[in-house]
Amino acid sequence: MSGEIDSKQFRTVLGHLPTGVCVVTGVNRAGERWGITIGSVVSVSLDPPLVGFFPGVTSRSWPEIEQGGSFCVNVLTSAQDELCWRFAKEPTDGADRFDGVVTKPSTSGMPVIAGTLAQIDCTIESVTPAGDHLFVLGRVRELTLDSAAGEAMVFYKSAVTGVVPPQPR
Ligand SMILES: Cc1cc2nc3c(=O)[nH]c(=O)nc-3n(C[C@H](O)[C@H](O)[C@H](O)COP(=O)(O)O)c2cc1C
Repeated sequence: MSGEIDSKQFRTVLGHLPTGVCVVTGVNRAGERWGITIGSVVSVSLDPPLVGFFPGVTSRSWPEIEQGGSFCVNVLTSAQDELCWRFAKEPTDGADRFDGVVTKPSTSGMPVIAGTLAQIDCTIESVTPAGDHLFVLGRVRELTLDSAAGEAMVFYKSAVTGVVPPQPR
């Protein structure tokens, strides 16, 4: 790593910043589904409604998703750790990350994964280099929430966990 910052320490310290866990999905020009586990989804702007995330420059899936011009953020529940790791690993020979995963198309045709807590359907507004990652800014077209699906998954200190829901006031 450049400068005085040690990459191991960077990972360790930033690993103490809890994040939600999402699978960002899309379709390429051929209509094939692609998806990546992403912890860097961030709310950016209310007016206009914008969200962002940071795929790595070496991502295999991002260039495929980008072809479709849209993406869907699927927010995972704490019970969906299998989906978290499935979309974070290379599939074994000939397999597809979506094998056995139930999806339905969003209004814009992006894969919505069954059982997820929330879905944020976006069109790609801009893609900006950000070091060894890209900053993808999306304009929100549709938002859906299934609060009965469970509580959100959290990634903290290299492990997935759940959240303790706040008590109703
Ligand atoms: C909880 C979690 C969060 C992640 N967040 C990101 C992220 O924000 N950006 C990223 O580039 N990779 C992230 N990853 C790693 C990618 O999911 C992983 O590198 C994946 O294999 C990339 O697939 P692709 O090459 O098909 O895009 C995360 C992985 C996990 C388990």
